[in-house]
Amino acid sequence: RYKEREKLFALNKLAAKFYNYLLTEKEMGNKALEYLKKRDIDQNDINKFQIGYAADEWQLLLNFLKKRDFSLDLIHKAGLITKGKNNSYYDKFRNRVIFPIYNNRGEVIAFGGRILATEAADYGPKYLNSPETAIFSKKKNLYGLHLAKDAIRKKNSCIIMEGYTDIIQAHKKGFENSIASLGTAFTEEQAKLIKRYAEKAYIAYDADTAGNMATLRGLDILSDAGIDVKVIQLAEGNDPDDLLRKEGADIFSEYLAEALSLVDFKIEMIIKDKDLTEPGVRIKVLKSIIKLIAEIEDELKREIYLERAAEKTSFKAEVLAKEVKKEVKKIK
Ligand code: CTP
Ligand code: MN
Ligand code: MN
Ligand code: MN
Ligand code: MN
Repeated sequence: RYKEREKLFALNKLAAKFYNYLLTEKEMGNKALEYLKKRDIDQNDINKFQIGYAADEWQLLLNFLKKRDFSLDLIHKAGLITKGKNNSYYDKFRNRVIFPIYNNRGEVIAFGGRILATEAADYGPKYLNSPETAIFSKKKNLYGLHLAKDAIRKKNSCIIMEGYTDIIQAHKKGFENSIASLGTAFTEEQAKLIKRYAEKAYIAYDADTAGNMATLRGLDILSDAGIDVKVIQLAEGNDPDDLLRKEGADIFSEYLAEALSLVDFKIEMIIKDKDLTEPGVRIKVLKSIIKLIAEIEDELKREIYLERAAEKTSFKAEVLAKEVKKEVKKIK
């Protein structure tokens, strides 16, 4: 078993090198290079994250790895090839920009492949990821951690984003404590991993419905793990990559400084898109807010949020306070 893991690490390392070679040295990599350039990803970023390109061919990687004496079985176990009809195998990643995924020790454990923007959507999902393998568990890893861990320790905080391109842009613009949960399903294991390096975290997920929902879940997971967590709220429709490219590092720093606390963000989400002049809606919103505030342990803190919530809903603070008191008694 131990030996197989070592072989998988070696295999992935070589595959990452091969993809990177196709991108940077071969003619076929040019359109992927063009695509990256348009996204403001340059040679320096390509080296740092060892970005690559998977050829628009069925067995280029497979044949290369076989020539290097890796068995079909091992290549399959690494998730790099897919079994087709009559026992034939073909490369899983084809005609995609490749982002190697590393563990915290800097070993390549998996890959993510992005479709080129210029290609039609019927080439499959925008991102394709390696399956779970003996050395890759998606829920236990964080993209970019091997590059971010020193900065995370030093700052005692990290910034959690969704995806590959967010991390690449963040590191480039000086936010080197940024890591990605690889999509929006943040896990307890990832929270524990962060806890090893820092006590504070900022969530900077995409400002869309999926991102907001994931932020709400991530907030609870992180705070349950004992991490002091805040939320960066980007403008509707943006992600950190968009913002950093359009507005730059200074503006992103301002967003960081204005990050919301857990309760503030939850209040925002309760109020968001609600017509507070509508009595029925108003009552529902207030009930949610009362429940939320009642759950705060610290009395002083409860008081502060109470006032803020009253302000936001233009509801009398005294009435709200009375309702919160009732609710607190109920839970205790
Ligand atoms: N993701 C995934 N599979 C998908 C879509 C997304 O694994 N089908 C993961 C990827 O790690 C991706 C992250 O979720 O980087 C964030 O997804 P999304 O916000 O949709 O993509 P972006 O990273 O913003 O992609 P891009 O800017 O390249 O369009
Ligand atoms: Mn997203
Ligand atoms: Mn995004
Ligand atoms: Mn997008
Ligand atoms: Mn994006």
